[in-house]
Amino acid sequence: MQDTSPQKIILVIHGPNLNMLGKREPHIYGHQSLEDIDGQLMKLGKKLGIDVETFQSNHEGEIVDRIQQAMGSCHGIIINPAAYTHTSVAIRDALGMLDIPVIEIHLSNIHKREPFRHQSMIADIVAARIAGFGSHGYMLALEGMAEMI
Ligand code: DQA
Repeated sequence: MQDTSPQKIILVIHGPNLNMLGKREPHIYGHQSLEDIDGQLMKLGKKLGIDVETFQSNHEGEIVDRIQQAMGSCHGIIINPAAYTHTSVAIRDALGMLDIPVIEIHLSNIHKREPFRHQSMIADIVAARIAGFGSHGYMLALEGMAEMI
């Protein structure tokens, strides 16, 4: 029998300054633009049979709003909170309301960098974490999410 269940939806959230990828400290964050990464995620999503939605904001409250909107409509979230990783109780609380898997991802290995980047406000509430693979980390996260949901 054909599987008629609706496609699973995964939301990928990119935090502040990630709209500048490609131009921003490429020795740390690589040469790919956010558009490149989102395009690759969409392509991989198609291959995996998953609908990928992407969202970028430089504003903490907008990220909180988008997480709230995902309640009841998405099956998983992949998030790079960028600098808010290290500071945002509001993003942690919003993610804490969800009963879907959340994967935290960072382009760089935050543990190899300045001490203030070693702390993540969401590390203990996410299902899995990926750091240090550059933009390929997003693909690893999506493949991992496909296994989880
Ligand atoms: C980052 C690491 C953060 O410390 C930094 O503020 C970012 C990007 C990463 O993907 O490596 O903006 O989340």
